[in-house]
Amino acid sequence: MMLQQIEVPDSVKSIDYHDGAERVVDFANEAIEAFMLSDDIPIENFVTCDFHLLDQSLTWIEQQHLLAGNRFCEWGAGFGVGAMLAALHGMESVGIEIEPRLVKQANHVADSLAISAHVYGGSFVPRDVEGLEDFAGEIKNVDTDEGDIYDEIGFDIADFDLIFAFPWPGEHEFFEHIFAACASTGALLLTYRGREGMNLIRKC
Ligand SMILES: C[S@@+](CC[C@H](N)C(=O)[O-])C[C@H]1O[C@@H](n2cnc3c(N)ncnc32)[C@H](O)[C@@H]1O
Repeated sequence: MMLQQIEVPDSVKSIDYHDGAERVVDFANEAIEAFMLSDDIPIENFVTCDFHLLDQSLTWIEQQHLLAGNRFCEWGAGFGVGAMLAALHGMESVGIEIEPRLVKQANHVADSLAISAHVYGGSFVPRDVEGLEDFAGEIKNVDTDEGDIYDEIGFDIADFDLIFAFPWPGEHEFFEHIFAACASTGALLLTYRGREGMNLIRKC
């Protein structure tokens, strides 16, 4: 099993936003700001990716015909904006988020915008993946104690064609290890890497 790097060109940033994407991003950003201001106990692991770049990257992936199928999952979904944008792009889309307050907010935003992307409360980290224990000391921002949520969703990791995540710096390999162990051949893992932009790999 191999992971193939697929270069996402800088020109992705000049792709037009998908119809309705700016409305989703603006609405979600307002909801996120209001939540942050009203929340007494901050959620330290929650930071947002560049939603516009994510929307443009989804368009680029479609244009390049890289998708093996139509099913999308956002690992560590936060407000679920990635899952909502993927739904806007016509994908069958879910998110997984461990923090119940974020799950509630995400599904409220999706319902308000009438977007069919559901965020499930629980962990994206599957049980029984060999070698995950090797990362134990390095992983500070992913909850690795909870059981996973795939039974409730009704899909395994192997059923998703595109997975998106925003790992904290130094934690990318953990996400890639799970992807390599559990995804299907042909599936894609898109990760946001801050100033370095988007990173895309395919399982071969
Ligand atoms: C860096 S934030 C990214 C949020 C969102 N994907 C985005 O790009 O805006 C990472 C999120 O992962 C969540 N998280 C941490 N461990 C998790 C786990 N085991 N399962 C699901 N979500 C988890 C955190 O609560 C946090 O909301």
